[in-house]
Amino acid sequence: MGFSFEQYKASADFIRVRLGDFVPEVAMILGSGLGYLGDEVEDAVVIPYGDIPHFKASTAPGHKGQFVFGLLEGKKVAVMQGRMHHYEGYSYEEVAYAVRVLRLLGCTTLIVTNAAGCVRTDWQAGDLMLITDHIKMFSESPLRGENIPEFGVRFPDASHLYTVRLQELARKTAGELNIPLREGVYFYCYGPQYETPAEIRAARVLGGDAVGMSTAPEVIVAGHCGMEVLGFTLLSNMAAGILDQPLSEQEVLDAGVAAREKFSTLVRACLNKL
Ligand code: HPA
Repeated sequence: MGFSFEQYKASADFIRVRLGDFVPEVAMILGSGLGYLGDEVEDAVVIPYGDIPHFKASTAPGHKGQFVFGLLEGKKVAVMQGRMHHYEGYSYEEVAYAVRVLRLLGCTTLIVTNAAGCVRTDWQAGDLMLITDHIKMFSESPLRGENIPEFGVRFPDASHLYTVRLQELARKTAGELNIPLREGVYFYCYGPQYETPAEIRAARVLGGDAVGMSTAPEVIVAGHCGMEVLGFTLLSNMAAGILDQPLSEQEVLDAGVAAREKFSTLVRACLNKL
């Protein structure tokens, strides 16, 4: 299929009418059970994805499926409460559709958060991780198909998808707040089934520190259109095969609730310093 520039523009134009003279600067995509930050936005304008032309609605648990535009830590933000996932049946292009729309609306920075399985046996469930890079080499790119030059070049550099300056800001901020922050590589898996223990061993050998079913497509598209990216993972559970217990969605959602305070404090503090 493939979206045209005009479609992205139509979505952005629709939103712009609702926003009046408010121009968002920072886009935030909040993952499983972490969408509550959107409820803390001041002067909020809420737009359900379903209202927007060409938009798809998110069906994943813990994902509301709406934009919240407004002020957070004094910054003009566009919060996505809920994201699209490939396992829901969307193409990668559809998964990352909103990123381009937010870029057209004016966002130059993207903050992404997710819950993921912890691949490292020397880390613990409940830890936070700064994403320094990702691996998504076994599935197609969200940039597949005709390039749209208004957004970026055909063969974009991906050496620093996660902006070095923002990583440094996050490290410093976490240190000041005394919030322990791991850092590592996010290994993208399709889902929706959790990984097998053998897949987790493979991910570990290949250099993954966390495994999850989101984020990488949106970050690739953000990098393509020149956005700076800051990514955080909540290691919600030990990855498959590490502990002798089955993985469950409930465990992931519970971890989101338990980490709420430190997670929100860290993300808000980083936002404040952008
Ligand atoms: N694997 C993949 N995605 C996840 C996991 C996991 O263990 N936990 C939360 N999201």
